[in-house]
Amino acid sequence: MSETIRVLIEEEKLNERIAEIGATISKDYEGEQVCLICILKGATFFACELSKRITVPVDLEFMAVSSYGDSTESSGVIEVKWDLEESIENKNVIVVEDIIDTGRTLKYLLEELHGRGPKSVKLCAMLDKPQRRVVDVKPDYVGFEVPDEFVVGYGLDYSQRYRNLPYIGILEMA
Ligand code: IMP
Ligand code: MG
Repeated sequence: MSETIRVLIEEEKLNERIAEIGATISKDYEGEQVCLICILKGATFFACELSKRITVPVDLEFMAVSSYGDSTESSGVIEVKWDLEESIENKNVIVVEDIIDTGRTLKYLLEELHGRGPKSVKLCAMLDKPQRRVVDVKPDYVGFEVPDEFVVGYGLDYSQRYRNLPYIGILEMA
């Protein structure tokens, strides 16, 4: 079986949109500090670029939760694999995720974080696949809505590959 990638969102368009989201967040949190929680590994490229475009003080933290394994279907069984090193009590948290698909991962994670006493919690996703949603999760900031296709690049993987592509592409199997 051969895999090909069809470009869906060019690097330039991604970077333009990330700058816009960064400007919006900077305005929304004027006079405050934000704690960006980057969900490993997929959101790293997006979170790093986004953090560079935010002008209020930023604290960049990382968390890993299990979701897909090596297949393309969500299991619904979620586990924290790498936890935050700092408390989020009284902080303005923004969860930064690569993509919201079924929403199961984020629903679990947001409930977990709400329980830790933050001042506020918002969700920022690079991509959103609203057609695939099975639980009610809505991002506060979104890069792009994408169709119900398996996408890779800019942090997103298929069996750990393609994260390093500088654009978002649709994975096609032939
Ligand atoms: P959810 O729990 O179904 O919303 O799954 C979210 C996670 O599944 C994301 O953080 C990704 O790691 C992964 N995922 C969902 N859709 C895709 C895709 O199209 N390409 C790559 N990974 C995906
Ligand atoms: Mg992910």
